[in-house]
Amino acid sequence: MQEDPQAKPLAPVQDYPRSDMEFGGIKPKALRREEKSSKCLVYVLAIMVIQGTVLLIFASIILRVRTPDFEIGSARVRNLKYGNSSAPSFNFTLVTEVTVENNNFGDFRFANTTGSVWCGPVVVGEMKIPTGRAQARATERLNVSVDVSSVRILDTKNLSNNISSGLLELNSHVKLSGKVNIMNIMRRRRHPEMNCFMKLNLTGHTVKELTCD
Ligand SMILES: *[C@@H]1O[C@H](CO)[C@@H](O)[C@H](O)[C@H]1NC(C)=O
Ligand SMILES: *[C@@H]1O[C@H](CO)[C@@H](O)[C@H](O)[C@H]1NC(C)=O
Ligand SMILES: *[C@@H]1O[C@H](CO)[C@@H](O)[C@H](O)[C@H]1NC(C)=O
Ligand SMILES: *[C@@H]1O[C@H](CO)[C@@H](O)[C@H](O)[C@H]1NC(C)=O
Ligand SMILES: *[C@@H]1O[C@H](CO)[C@@H](O)[C@H](O)[C@H]1NC(C)=O
Ligand SMILES: *[C@@H]1O[C@H](CO)[C@@H](O)[C@H](O)[C@H]1NC(C)=O
Ligand SMILES: *[C@@H]1O[C@H](CO)[C@@H](O)[C@H](O)[C@H]1NC(C)=O
Repeated sequence: MQEDPQAKPLAPVQDYPRSDMEFGGIKPKALRREEKSSKCLVYVLAIMVIQGTVLLIFASIILRVRTPDFEIGSARVRNLKYGNSSAPSFNFTLVTEVTVENNNFGDFRFANTTGSVWCGPVVVGEMKIPTGRAQARATERLNVSVDVSSVRILDTKNLSNNISSGLLELNSHVKLSGKVNIMNIMRRRRHPEMNCFMKLNLTGHTVKELTCD
């Protein structure tokens, strides 16, 4: 009977400090530290993932190698001479502005090459492209003159018909060979091809319907 009231107050007295030590003191602080450090870890990981994504996007845009566009921007005719009916033939100079449009984040250097101008199935002119360089995200323009002549066309009847119609259909084909160099990280060979079609009006001395693939 006497021990009970002593034991009762004792028990709570002993319990409070313990509970203070365990729950109010040490454990929650440790928990908070763990929470803080795990939050930190999550932030660091998130930043790393974001940085990685940004780098990937950067790499896929900046370092992607695209084949430059190679075409005839404009064409004119100079020194046109042609014979109708009795002696069908033609000679002229095709004065072209050739463009190399480079969309890469690095320059494109190309070697000199020779392409051809066709009239039907026959080569009527040689198109000489000099060595050159299109700067990063820029268009390089070259003046290229082609001497065109009908001397190699043997089917004079067909030629006669075409000259009589007043329109000559011409095609040009050139394959460039060069290297794209993006910040010395990416170096790739590319072979842009020019495939253009045009009609030459003989009486008007004009080029019309110039289109390139
Ligand atoms: C075109 O040139 C060829 C060879 O030079 C010549 O034989 C021909 O007569 C010329 N044609 C015309 C229409 O001048
Ligand atoms: C390129 O130029 C060199 C020197 O001018 C020349 O010898 C060569 O035949 C040219 N190559 C082509 C494909 O035009
Ligand atoms: C090409 O020719 C045009 C007109 O003849 C001239 O204005 C231009 O500067 C020339 N371009 C080059 C690269 O020589
Ligand atoms: C001329 O030749 C082309 C192809 O070589 C052919 O398609 C065309 O029918 C010919 N034209 C005439 C009038 O013979
Ligand atoms: C060629 O001659 C024919 C008939 O003589 C004529 O109808 C035609 O317009 C001439 N073509 C050209 C391009 O001068
Ligand atoms: C000649 O004319 C025919 C038909 O008129 C056409 O099919 C052919 O492509 C022309 N050829 C050239 C080289 O202009
Ligand atoms: C060629 O051009 C002249 C003058 O611009 C025009 O009168 C004629 O109709 C044209 N010929 C053809 C076949 O388009």
